[in-house]
Amino acid sequence: MGKQVKYLLDESQIPDRWVNIAADLPGEPLPPLNPGTGQPLGPEDLAPLFPMGLIEQEVSMEPEIGIPEEVVDAYRLWRPTPLIRARRFEKALDTPAHIYFKYEGVSPAGSHKPNSAIPQAWYNKQEGVKKLATETGAGQWGSSLALACEMFGLECEVFMVGASYDQKPYRRAMMETWGASVHRSPSKLTEAGRSQAEHATGSLGIAISEAVEVAVASEDTKYALGSVLNHVCLHQTVIGQEAIAQLEMAGEYPDVVVGCVGGGSNFSGIAFPLLRKKLKEGLDTRFVGVEPSACPTMTKGVYAYDFGDTVGMTPLMPTYTLGHDFVPPPVHAGGLRYHGVAPILGALVKEGLIEAQAIPQTEAFESAIIFARAEGIIPAPEPTHAIQYVINEAEQAKQEGDERVILFNLSGHGHLDLAAYQSYLSGELVDLEFSESEMNRALESLPEAPSVA
Ligand SMILES: Cc1ncc(COP(=O)(O)O)c(C=O)c1O
Repeated sequence: MGKQVKYLLDESQIPDRWVNIAADLPGEPLPPLNPGTGQPLGPEDLAPLFPMGLIEQEVSMEPEIGIPEEVVDAYRLWRPTPLIRARRFEKALDTPAHIYFKYEGVSPAGSHKPNSAIPQAWYNKQEGVKKLATETGAGQWGSSLALACEMFGLECEVFMVGASYDQKPYRRAMMETWGASVHRSPSKLTEAGRSQAEHATGSLGIAISEAVEVAVASEDTKYALGSVLNHVCLHQTVIGQEAIAQLEMAGEYPDVVVGCVGGGSNFSGIAFPLLRKKLKEGLDTRFVGVEPSACPTMTKGVYAYDFGDTVGMTPLMPTYTLGHDFVPPPVHAGGLRYHGVAPILGALVKEGLIEAQAIPQTEAFESAIIFARAEGIIPAPEPTHAIQYVINEAEQAKQEGDERVILFNLSGHGHLDLAAYQSYLSGELVDLEFSESEMNRALESLPEAPSVA
């Protein structure tokens, strides 16, 4: 039996293109709509928010998009990331399954988020933008964008979801170290923030409204989003492409691919290159996106056009939603507290090409402890949801006596999330209830739009 644990690629093997799964979807994708006119969105509608280079990616149907050389040069700081065979975790679970994880926690910010922050800052810089405004949930995206802006000489202003601002003070210090300014959201600085003051824990939807308001108010400022949009999922596909090359080194191919889902970008990043292979080569790989049961967008939400933010400033996007003004309970996985999901991922769930699962946070942390004690790495609260599902899958492999190959994305480390672990270890962490009646209330205020159900 082999002993190899790490599968490492050379810097020269960093992918030079991104995989655009929009080109593989059956039929025409449903267009985002202008909320004022109800008509499909044109590039000019997005121009106040994003540079043209990213708008072109957002609507592109090209199967692959080249990665600019300066972006690849910045990726060299931490890419390629390792693929790790979790042999000790397999042993702890006493499973015949072969478990591999792609470890994105080796980036300077500690997660997959710089994979998109770097190109977003670069394309803005090319078009003369001076400042980027953004939201952040757990602080992973805000710190990644702060780093990327610092690298390309842009200012960065971050609205951080209130619950996370209180739970993760060192994320703020990290953003400020990289030169960003950070506000607790809802803030008093914007109309949107002032209108949501009663939601003191905040939400990603509210923080997005605040950042969008700042971006549209100023000529030289644009907005950057850390997930959900096509171009963000696109940038993350470096993960899956590297994983395919690394699994080849290991002489294996996954039967099941697992990732946690907030807005959907890290899961898309690992899944889409393998999904393309499945569609092209007729493979029977399964894909499972895992969300928190306190914010069960794909498993309990409705498929409809909705706003991406709480106040209703963004285009209408067709996807699974709990209602744009649903405020999820303050679970520790702040990056998974989003009422919607990437439209491209929503479409794939609807087509049955991707499965969705919901998991409570206590079970997720219980699994994270088993993983951390076996593999050493302390995962961020978000990917603990993926790990919990991997344990279920490994248990099933044991019962059925098969050596199925499981690949999951370990999207980040939890070194700045230790308060959550402390809370779990001291027995204080509880499962926060998802309120069906609160979702139904929020769904009553879905905007008027064509039915897509
Ligand atoms: C470590 C980590 N994983 C996952 C997520 C969820 O985002 P997404 O679904 O876009 O990958 C976040 C978001 O902040 C995160 O910080």
